[in-house]
Amino acid sequence: MKKTEVVPDVYWVGAVDWNIRKFHGETFISNRGTTYNSYLITDEKVALVDTVYTPFADEMIERIRHIVPPEKIDYIIANHVEMDHSGSLAKILNLCPKAKVFCTAKGKEGLYKHYYGNWDFHVVKTGDKLSLGKKTLTFIEAPMIHWPDSMFSYLIEDELLLSNDGFGQHLATSERFDDEVDEGVLMDEAKKYYANIIWPFSSIVFKKIDEITKLNISPKIIAPAHGIIWRKSPGRIIERYMSWTKNESENKVIVVFETMWGSTGKMAGKIVEGLIDAGIRVQLYDVTKTVRTEIIKEMLDAKGYILGSSTHDNDMLPTIAGFLTFLRCMKPKNRVASVFGSHGWGGGAVRNIENFLKDMGIEILQPSLAVQYAPDEAELEKCYEFGLNFASLLLKNKIMQNV
Ligand SMILES: Cc1cc2nc3c(=O)[nH]c(=O)nc-3n(C[C@H](O)[C@H](O)[C@H](O)COP(=O)(O)O)c2cc1C
Ligand SMILES: [Fe+2]
Ligand SMILES: [Fe+2]
Repeated sequence: MKKTEVVPDVYWVGAVDWNIRKFHGETFISNRGTTYNSYLITDEKVALVDTVYTPFADEMIERIRHIVPPEKIDYIIANHVEMDHSGSLAKILNLCPKAKVFCTAKGKEGLYKHYYGNWDFHVVKTGDKLSLGKKTLTFIEAPMIHWPDSMFSYLIEDELLLSNDGFGQHLATSERFDDEVDEGVLMDEAKKYYANIIWPFSSIVFKKIDEITKLNISPKIIAPAHGIIWRKSPGRIIERYMSWTKNESENKVIVVFETMWGSTGKMAGKIVEGLIDAGIRVQLYDVTKTVRTEIIKEMLDAKGYILGSSTHDNDMLPTIAGFLTFLRCMKPKNRVASVFGSHGWGGGAVRNIENFLKDMGIEILQPSLAVQYAPDEAELEKCYEFGLNFASLLLKNKIMQNV
């Protein structure tokens, strides 16, 4: 088994989960798998930073054993309570029962409520330091990146930030570093991860990056607990995070619809034609055909959302209802939207979607467009104009914002 050294005496001892496709239940569809990254620091004291999801415990232990006997571990740093990182704590602690477990106060509570182990907990706060001999770890509490218990660990001498869920990607690869993988795929996965997991906590992340800068921490390497390690371009991912945390968006429109017999789908096609003719970049999704995780990723930096559904029993269709519930959890800011759909008699979908979006604080840019049953030529023309008009309002809105 090959040893993977991140910097001298710091090893990756995690596991690659090639086949996971449903992460956090079905909240994240991970088409490219994931990794659980643990790091072993072999100084005068031996420290393990994070563990792996339980089914991969033996793989992690084997990797550790190739470097030092697991019995030699003095300290375990538990940056995060969630089971993908804490799931192998009990198993590794069986091998090094005297090891001290370092975590935040919320981490101690949360780890106890998961595993009920009477472990030797040491609660740390931002700025606390732990000397390992030549190397020193310092801790930075990072509540809500990803849970209230989360923290980052920073290896001062190596300028190595162990950021746990922050800056991660669900990407299973044989390579470990950003200079070894396809840049496009890596950034796409980082964006997908941010959009579906980190987006709701954007203002917290923004403040945390600012706080880290003020602490004079400017990491040369960022080693997250999922996916690839950023050693070539840690500045680049921080830059992207700053843009995402500010909810910056482009003049791009995402059209998402659901249809039973195709009428709302026809409307969607014409709306998109109008948007394209107005020079707007568009992505069109039938919400039943593309995984939500992918659509949410595209929505992260799109200024405009157009949502469509036909009416089913006075309301929107169920898949788009679930989609909107997820989108609401992501708390998108500074977006504009419009709604359309086909109905038979009393309608309801269009009204309910519009209200849903308004309740989320999204500005409705123009009146909704509702059509009875299958749209005729004149109604399709209205759909085209709906797209054109949305585009021109979007461009005006952007210009007004820039003033
Ligand atoms: C099971 C079912 C329930 C429906 N319920 C309603 C309703 O409550 N109110 C309404 O206006 N139309 C209702 N409709 C009619 C559809 O909204 C109408 O057929 C519409 O044109 C379908 O558009 P689509 O082809 O985009 O699915 C219902 C249709 C079906 C199949
Ligand atoms: Fe997490
Ligand atoms: Fe995680």
